[in-house]
Amino acid sequence: GKAPVITVDGPGGSGKGTITQMLARRLGWHLLDSGALYRLTALAATRQGVALDNEAGLVLVASGLDVSFEPTPPGEPARVILAGEDVTAEIRTETCGENASKVAVLQAVRDALLQRQRDFRVLPGLVADGRDMGTVVFPDAPVKIFLTASAEERAQRRYNQLKDAGVNVNIAALLDEIRVRDERDINRSAAPLKPADDAQVIDSTGLSIEEVLGRCMAAAGQA
Ligand code: C5P
Repeated sequence: GKAPVITVDGPGGSGKGTITQMLARRLGWHLLDSGALYRLTALAATRQGVALDNEAGLVLVASGLDVSFEPTPPGEPARVILAGEDVTAEIRTETCGENASKVAVLQAVRDALLQRQRDFRVLPGLVADGRDMGTVVFPDAPVKIFLTASAEERAQRRYNQLKDAGVNVNIAALLDEIRVRDERDINRSAAPLKPADDAQVIDSTGLSIEEVLGRCMAAAGQA
């Protein structure tokens, strides 16, 4: 049989990154950060001079991605290595996220990344973080979670993260960016952001990380 998988989908800033890292560690399972693949496609394209609306060019970039995810100590995100270069910080910028959401609207780009994502499904199991993990990439997942939070709360969390990292930002501008990205992810025709019919929706607005993790572990108990 196939290795078990828990899908965690939802909008940016819903806490998915932190929660899926913690969930994967608790369970001792692998982690797929599918957003990183879209971010890497956008970054590699920019570096290779491929325009973000050049579908055929982007397909070549996506299928040719030379990427590895290297483990780090607990609490730290995996190191992301693109063709031998550490791009962990570079792919986390707002610009890269924005560019990722532009290449992600293209069906051919999504198709080019599909098998690479499915290859992460190996024993003892996989926690898959993204927008379409439960709807498209792993439709047969035994446990599907849709993690959400209000746009205001997500902007506040992003603001706190950036402030802690010493980055000076404007919270109203962050809220605008979040709304633009939500809009693009929800309204695209290729794999739009939405809960799978059989997903458990968890709204993390006003909940602590520990509370959200507890609810996800409870859901994971059914895997
Ligand atoms: O989750 P993250 O912010 O890293 O994702 C960046 C962008 O990549 C998202 O805004 C979305 O447009 C795209 N994405 C996607 N499908 C996924 C993961 C991310 O379309 N499974």
